[in-house]
Amino acid sequence: MQIVAVKDKRELGRKAAKVILEVIHKKPDAVLGLATGGTPEETYKELVKDHRENGTSYKAVRTVNLDEYVGIDPSDPNSYHSYMDHNFFKYIDLPEDQHFLPDSLATTDHDCARYDDLIDSLGGVDLQLLGIGGNGHIGFNEPGTPLSIGTHVVQLTDSTRKANARYFSSLSEVPEQAITMGIGTILKSKKVLLIVSGEEKAEAMYKLVRSSVPESGFPASALIQHPDVTVIADRSALSLI
Ligand code: GLP
Repeated sequence: MQIVAVKDKRELGRKAAKVILEVIHKKPDAVLGLATGGTPEETYKELVKDHRENGTSYKAVRTVNLDEYVGIDPSDPNSYHSYMDHNFFKYIDLPEDQHFLPDSLATTDHDCARYDDLIDSLGGVDLQLLGIGGNGHIGFNEPGTPLSIGTHVVQLTDSTRKANARYFSSLSEVPEQAITMGIGTILKSKKVLLIVSGEEKAEAMYKLVRSSVPESGFPASALIQHPDVTVIADRSALSLI
């Protein structure tokens, strides 16, 4: 695991975009695994800026998102579908039938398995962008999730619902379930890029750096088994190290 320290969220966005662009420049039809949340916002801004100024094309790129809330309509402003449109897709030339997110309204075991099959049929993820939850979740794989699991439906913990409530008008509106790529799905990616920003992630970052064995109680620790993980973290996220 390679750790890159940066000053702040802006620099984190620039560095993360650079890593993603290297993948696209090397392989114009790359499969990108994408993440949502506050942390990747700057990364998407940088990619949009690069698209506008340098013309990097996404015409052949395929994208698969990590997760989505269960039961929320894709057109709902709080869905991750909307997040991706609003922060990234509407600004680039990625064809509409080349971006995929888990279906918030189709969540049987069979539907979940189909998402993993879809990823396999695209040739697997070349680069998976990841954030981390304060409790160490990746995607929506909460503590206790088996480390080899594929895409599945999860019951969100109170701490995750509270952390994400800032996007909703009240905590009661935050869905109680989500559909997420599993840790097993994430570990199949050829390359993982974990971005970590802010003091509220310092403890998770501390635990990750100290992890020597993968533990389901701290899902991000699964990443230590992966051969190609880059972590970009800002000063506040690294403040306990
Ligand atoms: C959500 C997402 C995760 C993300 C995490 C951290 O729970 N499902 O994929 O990594 O939040 O988000 P933020 O970057 O807003 O702290």
